[in-house]
Amino acid sequence: MDKQEITAAFIKQYGQEPEAAFFSPGRINLIGEHTDYNGGHVFPCAISLGTWGAARKRDDNKLRFFSGNFPDLGVIECSLDQLKYDKKDNWANYAKGMIYYLKEAGYTVDRGMDVYIWGNLPQGGSGLSSSASIEMLFGVMVQRLFDLDVDRLDIVKMGVKTENDFLGLSSGILDQFAVGMSKAGQAILLDTNTLDYKYVPLDLKDNVIVIMNTNKPRELVESKYNERVEECQTALKELQQKLQIKALGELDAQTFDEYMYLIDKENLLKRARHAVLENERCIRAEKALEAGNLEELGRLQNASHMSLEYDYEVSGIELDTLAHAAWKQPGVLGARMTGAGFGGSGIAIVNKDQVEAFKENVGRIYEEKIGYAPKFYVAEVANGTHEL
Ligand code: GLA
Repeated sequence: MDKQEITAAFIKQYGQEPEAAFFSPGRINLIGEHTDYNGGHVFPCAISLGTWGAARKRDDNKLRFFSGNFPDLGVIECSLDQLKYDKKDNWANYAKGMIYYLKEAGYTVDRGMDVYIWGNLPQGGSGLSSSASIEMLFGVMVQRLFDLDVDRLDIVKMGVKTENDFLGLSSGILDQFAVGMSKAGQAILLDTNTLDYKYVPLDLKDNVIVIMNTNKPRELVESKYNERVEECQTALKELQQKLQIKALGELDAQTFDEYMYLIDKENLLKRARHAVLENERCIRAEKALEAGNLEELGRLQNASHMSLEYDYEVSGIELDTLAHAAWKQPGVLGARMTGAGFGGSGIAIVNKDQVEAFKENVGRIYEEKIGYAPKFYVAEVANGTHEL
């Protein structure tokens, strides 16, 4: 897909030229998983798979949305004064949420729009942030069409609000930040506590990042995700009996070790231990990458997966099979699940010359155990959401 193709698709659908066209990427997270709602660090980058969109303002207040991925849904229509979550509006709820929060913040969006989108992120809970990709696409699209003087970081925060308040998922800022702020060829180390961040060149030498999609049919991850958020909050409260902290991300491993006796239940202890150690691993991983120590980066990724598998318990047999199979392949520096887990995708850092053998072997092991094939993509590290 490119500007011409998305423009042509828009014209075919609506019979007029769009005013502008956009691309919004998906993301992977190198390490720092389930740390973002615990005030810890994350280390993501955007990828060249994502969502394209074209749009044009209307003279009335109708919003018309069409996705080339869901032609059966037809044109999803609503009015600018009816921006409420509605299950039947499917993916368009992300768009509605973004417009709602822009208006709520006082930005003038006083006319409707016709919008066409199409994406090539694997559908349905791939763990590559297709929802944040759509949210940021709409944020940037509405900003451009209505000439709004709004900061990119504020659009990122509206994406998080859309997830939290419009859709009811207690997610952190990882996805929208990565999708909205990324730069090609770089990863971002973000401290979700302070929102300080820095770009780090993603120099992987002779290696590439292979995305491993489990192809697991989508199931409801929202409730399990929200359960983890609550478990961490409970563990935090127990630690606060003796520690003056606002988030688990403020703790180092030693302090946690000394005070973990305050946590009453085994599962809460494991969740908190993951949050604290994963944050430390993330900080170490960034230093390792900067120092060119890719072996250490890979080992930290493996450790991250182990912690998500045994302490945080969000990986599941599909992601575990991919990670464990990947670790046994020649030329692999590290492998782990990425994103929320419970299905979705993993990533592996693999020597360029070994990628074909890697796909074949890991694919075979996975299919034998799980009963269907995974899908592999070599990630290209892309720019954040932008006009084409
Ligand atoms: C999902 C959420 C993010 C983050 C990850 C886990 O992608 O949307 O905010 O919590 O899971 O790291």
